[in-house]
Amino acid sequence: MRALIVGTGGVGESLAAIAARRDPEGELFERLVLCDFDLARARRVSLRLGEERFPAEQVDGMDPDAVAALAAKHGVDIVCSLLPIYADLRVMRGALKAGVHYLDTAACDDPDPLPDGSRRPFYDQVEFDYHEQFARIGKLALLGNGVEPGMVDYFARYAADHLFDEVEEMGVRDGANLEIPGYKGVAFGFSIWSTIDECVSPAIVWEAERGWYEVEPFSEPERFFLPDGIGYQEMGHVAHDEVIHIGRNAALLKGVKRATFKYGLGGDFIHAIEVLRSLNLDSTTPIPVNGGMVAPIDLVAAAAPDPVELGKSFVGKTAAGIWVKGRRDGLERQVYLYQVADNEECVETYGVQAVVCQTAFTAAMTLELLATGKLAGYRGNPEAGVRSPEEFCADPYVALMPEYEFHGGVMEMDADYKRAQERAALVGPAS
Ligand SMILES: NC(=O)c1ccc[n+]([C@@H]2O[C@H](COP(=O)([O-])OP(=O)(O)OC[C@H]3O[C@@H](n4cnc5c(N)ncnc54)[C@H](O)[C@@H]3O)[C@@H](O)[C@H]2O)c1
Repeated sequence: MRALIVGTGGVGESLAAIAARRDPEGELFERLVLCDFDLARARRVSLRLGEERFPAEQVDGMDPDAVAALAAKHGVDIVCSLLPIYADLRVMRGALKAGVHYLDTAACDDPDPLPDGSRRPFYDQVEFDYHEQFARIGKLALLGNGVEPGMVDYFARYAADHLFDEVEEMGVRDGANLEIPGYKGVAFGFSIWSTIDECVSPAIVWEAERGWYEVEPFSEPERFFLPDGIGYQEMGHVAHDEVIHIGRNAALLKGVKRATFKYGLGGDFIHAIEVLRSLNLDSTTPIPVNGGMVAPIDLVAAAAPDPVELGKSFVGKTAAGIWVKGRRDGLERQVYLYQVADNEECVETYGVQAVVCQTAFTAAMTLELLATGKLAGYRGNPEAGVRSPEEFCADPYVALMPEYEFHGGVMEMDADYKRAQERAALVGPAS
């Protein structure tokens, strides 16, 4: 497979490093072209991993013609957008022009206002408007193939297919115990632009009866227990794609009736976001500064410490996963399907920090599934169109996780089903 990786920041670099380790001889990932408007950034990664298989190119991802031209130059099978979310749609148009598959790790807001000047609501995602066009050329646009969204959407499908007879509710729950010893200040874990955008946007909930509706960011805080030594974290609602994907695919998910996303970002981080908001520094509307025009959010993203470098100093772990509540064998069951990444291990193995590394695994694995025939058309999977991970059988994805040393788990949570298993475990050995 040949792929254009548009954006060689934290996630782009991680994807290339994971592909290089998974496939040292380049039999599967034949060529990954590392593109960025910051050519020096792409070059640094290219030199680290090998210029022949990982060549660097300069491109403005906001220019679909330039993306299409580069895709044609390298004869790629797929274009991946690993840019801040506002740019995804442009890269997607570039893939369409080039007539190849497309993949991203997060959905974007529509950069253009509606005819009446208003913005589309977050849940009415503009990328799905391109479904017919991708279907017509027989190519896939694979949305949200990171960790959240991404891994957790595959997990949602896996839980529905294998762990439940009926599903009532699915909720992504994310938290970490990452810290930088002695560091005082705000440390972003990934794309500063995307992080601010998702933390200040109205959060979103989906219910079968009501559809999608907005709630205050970080509202309805709850304490949720995370495995692997992380422990309880307080989490609140945030706007995230999984809530949209799960609602759209409820019929594939055993009739799930409610979907949420909650982040445990910690009180200090939420306070920092509130400060940015109160100063209007989260605004995407350019304002005059010293004779030029600058969007405040762009200024913050450019000025704050780069998560790619700063993140390498974190100590601790980050958990991503999905809590599923439903019924199995007539009993109420609750599980948390999760993956925990250790920052020091990620830095040592891949040279990148845990948050972006955890994100890039699913992008790499989805590329492999596509290249090996285990995605398009496999076991009744769709062959073309704009798709989220729930639409694909998750079994090959889950089977691939140990091969990538990307280990996950299922935590059985307190419910009738777990208690019945525990009673059986005590009686079982003696009988
Ligand atoms: N699904 C998930 O779990 C998940 C998790 C983390 C990040 N993400 C998404 O991954 C994407 C990348 O995040 P990241 O942390 O790597 O960001 P980053 O800021 O580290 O990297 C972005 C890169 O894009 C480049 N860039 C920006 N605009 C460009 C343009 N117009 N043309 C060419 N290059 C441009 C920058 O120079 C930078 O190298 C973001 O959209 C983020 O929301 C998804």
